[in-house]
Amino acid sequence: MEGKGISRAVIERLPRYYRYLGELLEEGVERISSGELSRRMRVTASQIRQDLNNFGGFGQQGYGYNVKYLYDEIGKILGIDRQHNLIIIGSGNLGQAIANYANFERRGFIVKGMFDVNPKLIGKVVRGVEIMGVENLEDFIVENDVQIAALTIPKTKAPEIADRLVAAGIKAIWNFAHIDLDVPDDVVVENVHLSESLMRLSYRVCSMQDQKAGEIKRTQK
Ligand code: NAI
Repeated sequence: MEGKGISRAVIERLPRYYRYLGELLEEGVERISSGELSRRMRVTASQIRQDLNNFGGFGQQGYGYNVKYLYDEIGKILGIDRQHNLIIIGSGNLGQAIANYANFERRGFIVKGMFDVNPKLIGKVVRGVEIMGVENLEDFIVENDVQIAALTIPKTKAPEIADRLVAAGIKAIWNFAHIDLDVPDDVVVENVHLSESLMRLSYRVCSMQDQKAGEIKRTQK
């Protein structure tokens, strides 16, 4: 169980609910039944009812879910009704791509600072944020009330930087470096590994191909 007694599995599904509800709002839909939401999201209606009942049941019999209310409540649970100040350590390809993605701001994630060790990058401005050297990292974190640090540096450098971040009071690390970080219990790490996602995709496409090949063999016999 995660905070507020909600299981991790449910929490992992919430961003998807949030995205669909946001789209419904954009379409001007005010209320939706679990059946209709189920059709759109391709999740069973009972799963939707079970998931959303965790939050005190926003649905009403015969009325369905109030889209705006549910959207706002899920936003609050995910903590995206508030502003989160974020820094990016490692301002190479990936770091700059994250900084350039304007949509994070809409969700309340504000890139306050970018850092690097490469003198060629220091001083460069990405979407209004200047890349700085790492010497004053700790002061910057305290002065700018930074909560989240994205780590987009080589894995060999990540542990040392993570230790500095933790010592400076960072409680959330968005880790793209291919290494498992050793941090205290009160620091949360979200690992993002695109290559692992690709490997899962590769597994699924290969299994599908193998299955098809097996079927063809059987029909040819
Ligand atoms: P990159 O080489 O373009 O950028 C890395 C940057 O980190 C460089 O500018 C470098 O100067 C800087 N750096 C190195 N040591 C540093 C330190 N101690 N403090 C601050 N900055 C430091 O590489 P790219 O493509 O942006 O990838 C960055 C990292 O993310 C790599 O380790 C890569 O393996 C990983 N990666 C992870 C992905 C994922 O899905 N998790 C996807 C793509 C890359």
